[in-house]
Amino acid sequence: MADTDTLILEPLPADDLEELAVTLREADLPHQDLVGPAKRFFCASIAGEIVGYVGLEIGGADALLRSAVIFIRSRHRGHGRSMIERLLAVASESGIERVWLLTSSAPGFFAKLGFADVNRATVPSALAASDEFSLPACASAVCMVRELATTPSATPA
Ligand SMILES: CC(C)(COP(=O)(O)OP(=O)(O)OC[C@H]1O[C@@H](n2cnc3c(N)ncnc32)[C@H](O)[C@@H]1OP(=O)(O)O)[C@@H](O)C(=O)NCCC(=O)NCCS
Repeated sequence: MADTDTLILEPLPADDLEELAVTLREADLPHQDLVGPAKRFFCASIAGEIVGYVGLEIGGADALLRSAVIFIRSRHRGHGRSMIERLLAVASESGIERVWLLTSSAPGFFAKLGFADVNRATVPSALAASDEFSLPACASAVCMVRELATTPSATPA
C-alpha cells in the first residue's frame, strides 16, 4: 500500500466529539454516552481525509471496542478492516490483552478480523457496567472477543 493510502488513526480530543456524535447517530449507533474517563475515541483518515471513527472503553487489561463507523461514501474499500487492525495495534501497545464488543449490524465483519462469539456473562464486570450493555438497542446484540498477542517487550522476564 502506498503511503498516500495508509490509514492513520489519531486520538480525538475529549472536547471535539460533536462530529463523531452526529456520525454515530446517522449510523444508528449509541452516541449519547461519549464522555467518561475510560473512553478514548479515534479518527481514521487517509491522505488527510477523514474516513471514519472508532473508540475504546478501557477497564484494566480489557477494553470494549465501540463506535466503529466508516462513512458511507468510503465503505467496501478495506478501510474498516484497516481501522480495526490499527486500533488493535494501539490497544496492544497500551497493554490491553482482550478486546470485547457488542454488535447487531456487523458480526461477520468482526469475525473476519479474528473476533469470536462469546457468552455475555463472561464479559469482565468493569466493561459490563458500561452504558452500552444496558441500552435496549444492544439487548440482542452479539457479544464477541479477541485476544491480543502479547508483544515481546510486554512479556515478563
Ligand atoms: C462495518 C463497517 C465499519 C465496515 O467498514 P468497511 O470499510 O465497509 O469494511 P471493509 O471494506 O474493510 O470490509 C472488510 C471485510 O468485511 C466484510 N464486511 C464489511 N461489512 C460487513 C458487515 N456488516 N457484515 C459482514 N461482513 C462485512 C467485507 O465484505 C470485507 O470482506 P472481505 O475481506 O472478505 O472482502 C461499515 O460498514 C460501517 O461503518 N457500518 C455502519 C456502522 C456499523 O455497523 N458499525 C459496527 C458497529 S459495532
